[in-house]
Amino acid sequence: MVTGQGTRAPLAVPLPGGVPTGLGQQQLAKLVRGLLESELAVAPSAAPHIHALHRYYKHFLTSDGRVLYIAVRAYVARLWPLVECLLQAPRPVRLLDAGCGYGTEAYLAALLGAEVTGVDLVPERIAVAEARREFFQSQARDALQIEFEAANVLRFLACRRRYDLMWAMEAISHIHPPEAFLRAAFAALRPGGALIVSDPNRANPLAYLRSVAIRGSLRPATHQKFHDPETGQPVDYGQEHIVSTSRIGRALRQVGFVVERIVMSGFMATTVLPSTLLRRPACEVVLSRFGWLAARLPGVRRLGTVYAVVARKAVDP
Ligand SMILES: C[S@@+](CC[C@H](N)C(=O)[O-])C[C@H]1O[C@@H](n2cnc3c(N)ncnc32)[C@H](O)[C@@H]1O
Repeated sequence: MVTGQGTRAPLAVPLPGGVPTGLGQQQLAKLVRGLLESELAVAPSAAPHIHALHRYYKHFLTSDGRVLYIAVRAYVARLWPLVECLLQAPRPVRLLDAGCGYGTEAYLAALLGAEVTGVDLVPERIAVAEARREFFQSQARDALQIEFEAANVLRFLACRRRYDLMWAMEAISHIHPPEAFLRAAFAALRPGGALIVSDPNRANPLAYLRSVAIRGSLRPATHQKFHDPETGQPVDYGQEHIVSTSRIGRALRQVGFVVERIVMSGFMATTVLPSTLLRRPACEVVLSRFGWLAARLPGVRRLGTVYAVVARKAVDP
């Protein structure tokens, strides 16, 4: 269970018309699908960042340019622990998106009322995130509180303090060394704050094989293709260094976090099955019911392709 600190703040969500009362996963999925469909309705050739987004979201798109609802449902299931923490936290909520890439979750969190900082090592990714500002701002009632910075998050966190929430999606397997990130995150969170880490699950054979295929070796490795934007020095970059939920749980506890809960998802096979099948309503119903069930079945749940761990910094350690 997520145990928010203090009183539950009234929602001040700047989505057009306000947030639907009692926002649930289904409503959020519809909102996210609407946002992506509007943003990607433009031809890839319209702007470099739109081209990058079309490539990034290729698994979400059908050949006629529609966004697959089942893929968005799977995505929302994955980030739901973040949304719950965000909605339950007292306002204002200062959130860091560590390794934010193109910034989708950073913008979603800002639309849900958070004051967001997105940090990424690669300036080109931050440039794409920045270029999306106009679109997301056009969807918001109030000015979005969001900034992006190209930086090595390890250096960035060394002089920042007091975030309420931190989100790291598909980042802990790249930020190197991950233990240093967990220590820095713990130090920079306010007591009672939470780090939510979501990443592929090493215990899932498909996720493991994909990580091996991407890095081209069985063993975890690092490269130094990227440079610290501030110092110009090469930075160690983890290549798909994915771990199991027991390993990430142990690593989080070692630096002082209380592991509040682990949510497994990724049972919907949205990246494996063809989109022609995935768009069929019957397939959508079967896969979502299967996903719901699988995430709750002991033995099966630990095999989800992705996990999200909510790790809390206790008020009185
Ligand atoms: C697989 S991408 C995930 C991006 C985004 N979170 C998402 O889920 O779409 C991993 C990101 O982590 C960033 N990253 C890796 N090491 C980093 C570091 N030391 N500091 C900041 N960002 C880092 C990479 O540049 C990359 O954009």
